Amino acid sequence: MRNTHSILVTGGAGYIGSHTVRLLASQGYKVVVLDNLVFGHELAIVDPEVELVVGDTGDRELVSGLFEKHAFDAVVHFAAFAYVGESVTNPLKYYRNNTAEPLALLEVMQRTGCKVFVFSSTCATYGVPENLPIRETNPQNPINPYGRSKLMVEWMLEDCDRAWGLRSACLRYFNASGCSEDGRIGEDHNPETHLIPRVLMALIGEIEHIEVFGTDYDTPDGTCIRDYIHVDDLAEAHALALEKLLSGGASLRCNLGTGVGVSVREIIDAVEEVTGKSVPLRHGPRREGDPPSLVADPALAAEVLGWKARRLDVRDMVRSAWAWVNGPSGGRFPPNVHPQVR
Ligand SMILES: NC(=O)c1ccc[n+]([C@@H]2O[C@H](COP(=O)([O-])OP(=O)(O)OC[C@H]3O[C@@H](n4cnc5c(N)ncnc54)[C@H](O)[C@@H]3O)[C@@H](O)[C@H]2O)c1
Repeated sequence: MRNTHSILVTGGAGYIGSHTVRLLASQGYKVVVLDNLVFGHELAIVDPEVELVVGDTGDRELVSGLFEKHAFDAVVHFAAFAYVGESVTNPLKYYRNNTAEPLALLEVMQRTGCKVFVFSSTCATYGVPENLPIRETNPQNPINPYGRSKLMVEWMLEDCDRAWGLRSACLRYFNASGCSEDGRIGEDHNPETHLIPRVLMALIGEIEHIEVFGTDYDTPDGTCIRDYIHVDDLAEAHALALEKLLSGGASLRCNLGTGVGVSVREIIDAVEEVTGKSVPLRHGPRREGDPPSLVADPALAAEVLGWKARRLDVRDMVRSAWAWVNGPSGGRFPPNVHPQVR
C-alpha cells in the first residue's frame, strides 16, 4: 500500500539526515527537506521527488507557510550545530540554533496540530557516565553547551507531550559512521572532527597526520573507546520510530548504538587493514572533557522499536567510508548552487 504521509525533515541535506531522507523516500513518504545549507549539501538529496527548501528551522514565516502547503504528519528534526569545542567558546550560537530554533518549530506544530516529532538527540546528554554500558536510566548530566542544548529540547518535548499531546522519539545517537553502501552519498563535514573520516583524510594527504588524544586512559590499549554506529542503521531506526509514532505509539527515548566499544587504536588498525596503508599519526595529550569510554546499551531500542544495528563490524563502516572517498566525488559533494541562508 502506498505510504501517504507527508514529512518535514529539517537538516535533511546533512550527513545523517540525507541517509535517512533517502530511506524514507524509498518507503514512499512524501518528504520535504528544510536545510539552510550552512553545512548541508544539495546533492546529498538524491531522490528527485524530495523537495529541498533552503531556509532556517527558526524562520517562523517560512515554516508556517510550509505547514500550510504540505499539512505535514510529522517532523524529523536533524538540524543543529554539533561542534562540541565551538559550543564551549560560543554557547549562545548553540542555544539559539539547537534549542531556540526547534522551539519556534514546535510552536508552529502546536498551532497547526502536527503532533509527531522525531529528534536527533545524542549520547552527549549523558556527560561522563557513572555506569557502562550507558542505559537510558543513566543520569543525564551533559558537560558542554552542545549536550545541554540538546537535553533542553528533550525536556521541551516531554513537556509538550504532557501539555498538548505531542508524541516524540528522542533518539540518542552514539558515533555515527560509514556511508551509503552504493557510495552515492557520504560524510562531508567542513571542518571534519569525526575520527574515521579524519583518519582517511590523513591517508590521502588532506591533513598531515591524525592526532591520538591520550594513550594513557584506563582502557585495554590506553585510547578512548566509543560506540560507532553505521549511518544506515541510524536511518532505519528513524524510519521505525516514525512508523511507530504515526501509528499512534507513545513518546519514547532510546539509545542508538551497537553496544560494542571500539578504541581509537582499533579504528586506526581497521583503517590500515581495509586500505592496506599505514596511517600517519601523532600521540597527543588527553582532550579536556573526553570520557574514557562511551558505549550504549541498545536493549531499549530493540524493545520499543524492534531495532538492532545490523552493521556491527567497524571494518565495514571504514570500507564504506573509504569507498566514498575513492568514489567519483572524492568524498566531497560539489558546491551548492543555492547560497546558504543565515
Ligand atoms: N554525527 C554524529 O555522530 C551525531 C551524534 C549524535 C547526534 N548527532 C546529531 O544528529 C544531527 C545530524 O548530525 P550530522 O552529523 O548529520 O550533522 P550535519 O551538520 O551533517 O547535518 C545537520 C544539517 O542541519 C543543517 N542545519 C543546521 N542548523 C540549521 C537550521 N537552523 N535550519 C536549517 N538547517 C540547519 C545543516 O546545514 C546540515 O545540513 C545533529 O542534530 C547532531 O547534533 C550527530
